[in-house]
Amino acid sequence: MRSILRNSYRSTERFFIKRANIGAFRFVATQMAARDLRREAAAVVWGQYFSLHGDDRAELTAIRRDVHRIEKGLVMRPRRVPFGKDYVPALVESIARQIDRDALPPEDLAWANDVLSCYFDVTSEVSDDWVAAARTGFKALRINALGQGLVPAPRSQAPESDVSIDALEYLAIRRRSVRWFKPDPVDREAVDRALRVAGQSPSACNRQNIRFHLLFGPEHTEPVLQTVGGTRGFASQVPAAAVVIGRLAGYRHTFDRHAIYVDGGLASMSFLFALETLGLSSCCINWPDVASRYDAIRKHVALAPDEQVVMLIAFGHADPDGLVPSSHKRGIAYLRTRA
Ligand SMILES: Cc1cc2nc3c(=O)[nH]c(=O)nc-3n(C[C@H](O)[C@H](O)[C@H](O)COP(=O)(O)O)c2cc1C
Repeated sequence: MRSILRNSYRSTERFFIKRANIGAFRFVATQMAARDLRREAAAVVWGQYFSLHGDDRAELTAIRRDVHRIEKGLVMRPRRVPFGKDYVPALVESIARQIDRDALPPEDLAWANDVLSCYFDVTSEVSDDWVAAARTGFKALRINALGQGLVPAPRSQAPESDVSIDALEYLAIRRRSVRWFKPDPVDREAVDRALRVAGQSPSACNRQNIRFHLLFGPEHTEPVLQTVGGTRGFASQVPAAAVVIGRLAGYRHTFDRHAIYVDGGLASMSFLFALETLGLSSCCINWPDVASRYDAIRKHVALAPDEQVVMLIAFGHADPDGLVPSSHKRGIAYLRTRA
């Protein structure tokens, strides 16, 4: 009965979509699509709820965003001092609160300390009351961290890279989605190494609201991979997997709702390349954004209400005899458009 209703709902939906070039039909089709988006919208609202209620995870994310905003102000040409009236004082208060709660990760504390120290050096001649109050608040924190030089620096001082375009292109061509693996276990330290590379990826305002939930051994990977449709036939022999999860706490605006997918995609690509250099093959797995899939995966992976699955990644040592699709790519004439 349920499947009859579902099928008739879907065929009604297709009826309107097929005529969506006409306003009234497009309106109905849009309302029907919005119904499917409700679950995701609720996750977005949970993220906003946590942000407005000063939830720790949201505040830690806002701290990262605001430290980065200061960095961007410091690199501005010309530098307009003082800047940040609407976020520097609040940032100092947030840091104080998170230090009290012992919740600020050491790398975030070190970065915030260096950037704020630089900011208050640069504004040392400024007489505005709000700068003075923020400086006093910052000094009162008595952060006992050695300066690590985590401040803006000229590009000429960046470490050189010896990765040639040939080497990078070779790696890109060599990486292909592999679905058949040897049963050999995956070295967890190698995966951490790959995650460190993934962690260097760009992210919107450097928030990095992404985590990789790791699963090792088919007894752990299979039940999770079975929650999606795209692993039919090969889910039972995947030695390791990652569930890429984006956290919406820390985003106050609905228009930022895609950041976790973009950031998650960028970090995942770095992760895949890093795995490849470590002799590990991988395959991304699509995550269907449907309530029933969330119910299923939550039996194996704890997810906060604002957390969204971006995708899954199966990985391990490739079975050398397993066939791999060529997945031939589009030419650059397609990728490139010009005015
Ligand atoms: C977001 C995403 C979802 C994917 N989902 C699946 C999937 O569910 N099942 C699968 O076998 N492959 C999946 N793939 C792998 C694609 O089929 C593969 O990346 C594509 O054919 C290009 O091949 P290549 O990765 O070897 O270059 C997915 C890839 C991406 C990026």
